[in-house]
Amino acid sequence: MTASSHSASDSGADSISSLLARHGQSHLLAFEDRLSAAERRRLREQIEHVNFVELDRLIQELVLQPGTSALPPSLAPAAYYPAQHTDASRPWRAERFREAGEDMIRSGKVAAFTVAGGQGTRLGWNGPKGTFPATVVTGKPLFRVFAEQLLAASRRYGTTIPWYIMTSPANDADTRAFFVDNNHFGLAPADVFMFPQGVMPAIGLDGKILLETPGSIALSPDGHGGSFRALAGSGAIDDMAARGIEVISYFQVDNPLVRIVDPVFLGLHATAPDSSAEMSSKMVAKVGPEEKVGVFCVVDGRTAVVEYSDLPKALAEERQPDGRLRFLAGSIAIHAIGVEFVQRLTADPDRFGLPFHRAEKKVACIDPRTGEAMQPERPNAVKLETFVFDALPLARSSVVLETRRSEEFAPIKNAEGVDSPASSHELQSDRAGAWLEQAGVRVPRRADGHVDARLEISPLTALSPEELLDPERRSELPSAIRPGQELAI
Ligand code: UTP
Repeated sequence: MTASSHSASDSGADSISSLLARHGQSHLLAFEDRLSAAERRRLREQIEHVNFVELDRLIQELVLQPGTSALPPSLAPAAYYPAQHTDASRPWRAERFREAGEDMIRSGKVAAFTVAGGQGTRLGWNGPKGTFPATVVTGKPLFRVFAEQLLAASRRYGTTIPWYIMTSPANDADTRAFFVDNNHFGLAPADVFMFPQGVMPAIGLDGKILLETPGSIALSPDGHGGSFRALAGSGAIDDMAARGIEVISYFQVDNPLVRIVDPVFLGLHATAPDSSAEMSSKMVAKVGPEEKVGVFCVVDGRTAVVEYSDLPKALAEERQPDGRLRFLAGSIAIHAIGVEFVQRLTADPDRFGLPFHRAEKKVACIDPRTGEAMQPERPNAVKLETFVFDALPLARSSVVLETRRSEEFAPIKNAEGVDSPASSHELQSDRAGAWLEQAGVRVPRRADGHVDARLEISPLTALSPEELLDPERRSELPSAIRPGQELAI
């Protein structure tokens, strides 16, 4: 939350009352006489931190009169580097980029960055999402899956890959405690850097700021786009610069298949002739016109992600002569971000800000008439969130790399159905099965093509299928998997 340009003076409630009255938010003090002196002080502090001028504008534009975003007149699909072997008509030399990426990793220029400040309301897990048991057989929490990747990659490349984790004020303490309880999963605590992101007040659908309790405003994290400010404000970016980090491997906490340390992607980002090495992205081909993912486009000459809800149906359905979708490149929220890019954007924090978007959500709050706690059954509030991909057009140029969905994308967002633990398990088993097949193991498949077994490969066993071909590892593998078998290696 940005500091108010209309701060009330320390002298007391009067100036705060008139500030609130000017902005139509007097209800925030409605229950003040029920509060202790300390609670009253805390509430006033919260109010003083609200930038009411900015908030008035956001309430008008995003809560009371939300318009549909106008589609830019010049909108074209973004070019991308096709996944290797999928498009023979556009060859490019992945090996060259792999070597560049490996050099960067070995020389300690790469950091991992997880955004883990979200509230995970759709999953409904009681705790930070990174603590959710995500893997198929052993139920490893997401944070452990990532930690094992970093351990394995650090060993493979003989280096240290520091890990930065953005939390929120609401889950920061629980996240830190989880790492301490788990001995940082074997990572050196000095190489794990956590910091909370900023928050914004949640706004009722009538434009009024919601109170969570009679003495506190309902605050929610300001979106993954808040990571730029938080990286700068927390000192994380200075820490990276001091360590000689040049590239940040950005990923979300909810994707257990993410490949955090991908030399081809990192090398492409840093050395491709059409990259400014500021911000690059991975994409997967959309499964169909209706899939709810943002699409990489070129808008006014800059790479941008257009949200699925903003892409008109007619455009979403357009096809290329070969039958593939014209707007094909779906965003999977994996980016490489230059440290210098973050420094450039945040050099003057007062002038930097990504646009806010409206997210209608259920937010626990109190009844403004009685002060009683309420648990809404339907979305009752607008959360104001910024999106990390809105930084793409600020990069001087930007490259997009296609990756295979089956290799890198199995998100856990919902409790059931699409993008749920069950669907993620199926995809995780499928990937493990495909890797085992490449190592010569026979793997049973169901009629629908999915692997008929529950399979899990730890990153410490193999970070890529090639590592299973290592003779020592190969000798430990079974020759075949039985239908329905559970196997964790
Ligand atoms: P989601 O868009 O899935 O949001 O976040 P969410 O808050 O986790 O879940 P719901 O919508 O309440 O169910 C995508 C990624 O961005 C992070 C999340 O932690 C997740 O890794 N994120 C999201 C933040 O770090 N901060 C935010 O303010 C929002």
